[in-house]
Amino acid sequence: MKQTLIAGNWKMNNGLSETKALIEDLKKIEIQDHCEVVICPPFVNLGMASQLLQGFNIKLGAQNMHYQDKGAYTGEISPKMLKDLNATHVIIGHSERRQYFGETNELTNKKTGAAIGHGLRPILCVGETLAQREGQIAKKIVRRQVIEGLKDIRLQSGEEVVIAYEPVWAIGTGKTATNDEANEMCEFIRQVLSELFGDNIADAIKILYGGSVNPKNVDGLMSEKHIDGALVGGASLKAEDFSRLIHYQVVRP
Ligand code: PGA
Repeated sequence: MKQTLIAGNWKMNNGLSETKALIEDLKKIEIQDHCEVVICPPFVNLGMASQLLQGFNIKLGAQNMHYQDKGAYTGEISPKMLKDLNATHVIIGHSERRQYFGETNELTNKKTGAAIGHGLRPILCVGETLAQREGQIAKKIVRRQVIEGLKDIRLQSGEEVVIAYEPVWAIGTGKTATNDEANEMCEFIRQVLSELFGDNIADAIKILYGGSVNPKNVDGLMSEKHIDGALVGGASLKAEDFSRLIHYQVVRP
């Protein structure tokens, strides 16, 4: 059975002491084999997080990276630097990066390719805005983000990449997509992945849902057929909440 993935995106939260305290609490959580757990602290705390997590079953991810190995790119962090810190995952093209920092599908494509090339697993984020959903073009937008984000990328098994469907209107707003809405879009993404890579690889790619996932709605979302995990912002900042997400219960109909 495919492992699920619960990933915590801390965004620009938690300084040194808060990072240490939260990680110490997270280390007490029992993690079962069927669920892979990743936390993505801010860049400056990745080194410490990496040391604190040594020997524990929680993996480390970054929230962004540059696509070049090194060079004159002031303020940027390279995939090699993340690998040096034992990071395994990196969030690419989060809607906040697209919205506030002008990231395009072309840029996410370069970053996704570079991450895979360095053995980092990109969590490529896609999702429509409220206006796009209301304008009935959500699928068109998401399809384009997937196709352009994965352009010219070759996959061996599908395990090299993760897709996160995060409707922009649900991020940090407390508004979640319904289970059906989330599943429908994740199924649609899987169809697009099938067109690109064939059914076997598409089935192996983890597709996460993100957008106000919390202890109350996690079970329903994780019970959906095409949702293989969650990318979590707010609820990843408290050990108790994150623990509840990791211990989601599949609700049988
Ligand atoms: P949220 O953020 O859980 O706070 O809505 C999700 C995300 O941005 O990845």
